[in-house]
Amino acid sequence: MCGIVGYVGDRSGLDIVVAGLRRLEYRGYDSAGVAVVSPGSLLTDKRAGKLANLEKALADSPLATSGTAIGHTRWATHGAPTDRNAHPHTDCTGRVAVIHNGIIENFAALRAELSEHGHVLVSDTDTEVVAHLLEQVMPETGDDLAEALRRVCRRLEGAFTLVAVHAAAADVVVAARRNSPLVVGLGVGENFLASDVSAFLAYTREALEVADGQVVELRRDRVTVTDFDGAPAHPRGYHIDWDAAAAEKDGYDYFMLKEIAEQPKAVADTLIGRIDAQGRLTLDEMRLSVEELRAIDKIIIVAAGTAYHAGLVAKYAIEHWTRIPCEVELASEFRYRDPVLTRDTLVIAISQSGETMDTLMAMRYAREQRSLVLAICNTNGATIPRESDAVLYTHAGPEVAVASTKAFLTQLVACYLVALYLGQVRGSTWSEEIASVIAELADMPDKVDRVLDTMAPVRELARELRECTSVLFLGRHVGYPVALEGALKLKEIAYMHAEGFASGELKHGPIALVEQGLPVFVVVPPRGRGVLHDKVVSNIQEVRARGARTIVLAEAGDESVAPYADVLIPLPPTPTLLQPLVATIPLQVFACEMASQRGFDVDQPRNLAKSVTVE
Ligand code: AGP
Repeated sequence: MCGIVGYVGDRSGLDIVVAGLRRLEYRGYDSAGVAVVSPGSLLTDKRAGKLANLEKALADSPLATSGTAIGHTRWATHGAPTDRNAHPHTDCTGRVAVIHNGIIENFAALRAELSEHGHVLVSDTDTEVVAHLLEQVMPETGDDLAEALRRVCRRLEGAFTLVAVHAAAADVVVAARRNSPLVVGLGVGENFLASDVSAFLAYTREALEVADGQVVELRRDRVTVTDFDGAPAHPRGYHIDWDAAAAEKDGYDYFMLKEIAEQPKAVADTLIGRIDAQGRLTLDEMRLSVEELRAIDKIIIVAAGTAYHAGLVAKYAIEHWTRIPCEVELASEFRYRDPVLTRDTLVIAISQSGETMDTLMAMRYAREQRSLVLAICNTNGATIPRESDAVLYTHAGPEVAVASTKAFLTQLVACYLVALYLGQVRGSTWSEEIASVIAELADMPDKVDRVLDTMAPVRELARELRECTSVLFLGRHVGYPVALEGALKLKEIAYMHAEGFASGELKHGPIALVEQGLPVFVVVPPRGRGVLHDKVVSNIQEVRARGARTIVLAEAGDESVAPYADVLIPLPPTPTLLQPLVATIPLQVFACEMASQRGFDVDQPRNLAKSVTVE
């Protein structure tokens, strides 16, 4: 996610755009930049770091006043958060400036083509190719920037919101969108465009809904919308009732709810650009050679909290697909147990923030032992990926709520990709199986969406159970880390006692906790794994026989659990190893509703921080 603002009108475009970026900083904050256009002149300034860095630079060296401006606050996907990689990006002549939200999948091929045509690209980003493509086609359109953008959009693959200005079109801002947000604000003698309405709500509450596959030409007195082929479009106008705070949450009550709802897109985005046309995995940003990957004889995953639970799921996948022994360690314990590490050990550090001190110190210890370190991280340019030998970024976008949700699902996807990639490189997994799993992963955004559409009973259950004092979560195989994650969510935002257990472990003590009416969630594996499935069904009977209120998550149509389920939460069918991608969601929703019912601060729970940068 990134923040995008555009303006054409009689006010200072720079002031409007910078104020808008301040409202959008929650969408990304690792760099920011602006461009202003006057007849024949286009000026830009951009800085890594928070928006304040850019504001200081603009105060020290003001840009010319202009009524046409665009601005961007970045959440890096391709290219570290540096001044050079910050948006806007310009063409060779410096007369075109482009800002972008999303991922252009075919940027590598376009970059190669442009270089062959003599273009000099200076950043590591996918976005820059658009500026040079516009430079290339603009003369063919008689300096019609909207037509130039339409022609360029027809060549792009992937998800994008693009906004561009040109020195030859000083009173125009153009934009295009495909699977990425863009909204137009309609003023009097001025018009706006942004990633979401919070950027221009201070000036107008009248908006236009821009649909996918559309190009917008913004002038001070009119807004023209077409499709990518130039056919006129007639977007729906609407009045914005939200206040600015609600707009930042896209209308949800909490960022956590918004981020739970963003999970289908986060999963899809984490898969983009990592599977080639032949269906093979291409994790080239990992920067580990085939020889290094083939020499690995042990994997140790280090992480904390929710990221640790992702590591526990990853262990099953890694050992199944690669046959490499895989240990999972709490980062805070790892270096104190005198672990056995060699040059052929791959340590995988999983961290949403990339700043968790426990994980960072564990990783540094591993590097001192000469082990290879791969970071799986959601924050481009954070300390952990910067200090790793290799990195695989998740593309969940900024996660604002302290309770991690979409980052967790994308960590799972990244772990599956790493495991499959190791299997592909080492030949330990048949290409047919890799292709089959990749096809299943490609279906996951839709399956996650289907689960999200059926959460009303789960929210109702939370309301019914709001007074309960303890909840247990049971699971087996990859369902066990899901149980741990469900318990953590409830603890950290509803302040309720909750514990996750391996369901087979219950009889070794914890079953003594079970008493009449105790809510017990049970994650049931897909029926494909017969013995695994039947064992868990037996565990449900064990707790129900002792009075538990069983809340069973199972594949839709799994009639075998119905007799033992007081509440049945159906899940879309998935392969066993991928089930955490759908089974976790009801537990996230349950915890969120419970915290809300109890009147707690869902996004900023007591005693907690989003990134724990102390040991
Ligand atoms: C999860 O909901 C918590 N916010 C916490 O356990 C978190 O997962 C943990 O602190 C690790 O954070 P990281 O992924 O940024 O390293």
